[in-house]
Amino acid sequence: MRKRERKIVNAQITGVGKYIPEKILDNKYFEKIVDTSDEWIRTRTGIRERHVLEEGGTSTLATRAVENLMEQTGLKPEEIEVIIVATVSPDMFFPATACLVQDNIGAKNAWGFDLSGACSGFLFALQTGANLIESGQYKKVVVVGADKMSSIVDYTDRTTCVIFGDGGAAVLLEPTEDLEYGVQDSILHCDGSGKEALHMLGGGSLNPASHETVDKKMHYIYQDGQKVFKVAVKGMADVSVEIMKRNNLKSEDIAYLVPHQANLRIIDATARRMGISKDQVIINIDKYGNTTAATIPLCLADYYEEKKIQRGDKLVLSAFGAGFTWGAIYLTWSID
Ligand code: UT7
Repeated sequence: MRKRERKIVNAQITGVGKYIPEKILDNKYFEKIVDTSDEWIRTRTGIRERHVLEEGGTSTLATRAVENLMEQTGLKPEEIEVIIVATVSPDMFFPATACLVQDNIGAKNAWGFDLSGACSGFLFALQTGANLIESGQYKKVVVVGADKMSSIVDYTDRTTCVIFGDGGAAVLLEPTEDLEYGVQDSILHCDGSGKEALHMLGGGSLNPASHETVDKKMHYIYQDGQKVFKVAVKGMADVSVEIMKRNNLKSEDIAYLVPHQANLRIIDATARRMGISKDQVIINIDKYGNTTAATIPLCLADYYEEKKIQRGDKLVLSAFGAGFTWGAIYLTWSID
């Protein structure tokens, strides 16, 4: 029997990778297909363009992100012990997208699973992965956030189609005995009474696919934007301030807020409540739109690639999404 090491360790992020599909849909494209304008989209959301995957499913995005992670870190597929994929757009109900990624990359010693936490999915998966590392049983856990939102967006509905995009990003979690580094704290929530405001009704066991579910457009995202906006502003800001308070973090201690990228106005409101300045906020919504579970790891991958995050930086990751789900994770960055 494999023995657990009982040393106290933190889970630290030791590598990041990403994949953004090539095809870009800019705001001008949406002016041609729905009644909208570049100006409305930019000022109401902060989005300029988003990418869409033409061939393949979410496992393609996730696989390429993990391949990029392996290229950057030298991680070998057989070293990976667990793969967690946060997504709301799995290739199919089963097998899990994590299994498809495992097979695509040849991670022959890994087990894995998908985690459905919508826009908070990456935070839920990161906390789960961190707990696996902290248990002492695992030393290499890959956590992926990936969504092919274009597969569940109704491109005749202007209230949702301009918002979402496709993308994937992944982090490697490993233990550290230096408890100054890695995941320090998390506050995570869900409240299913929010189900009316943001959902996809069709295709599950309650409403299996039928001519009726297709005719009623039940296989697409539905969002009551204003309702979600109000609770998202409060939820994301409250939880971000709470994690600061409980860890005695002052605004100047925080290198970056790494927020879910749903709307620039939600991000700005959260930053204001935390008392941090604009240059302490990671933003890439302009380039990718809302990629659901991928937004936060994509922020980490972009800023790491641009050498804007340094070892020792204190980061607050924060999200709000369907469910409702929301939460924040405080971590200290370990990569040079
Ligand atoms: O990531 C998961 C969690 N999701 C979120 O956090 C999203 C939260 N919600 C939002 O980000 C915003 O509510 C939206 C971006 C979805 C919408 O922005 P809004 O400022 O809340 O717009 P609204 O829904 O209040 O609509 C204002 C107006 C309406 O027209 P009327 O009734 O005032 O004539 C809409 O029909 O804007 C109209 N509208 C549009 N106009 C042009 C809605 N979508 C569009 C559009 N182009 N694409």
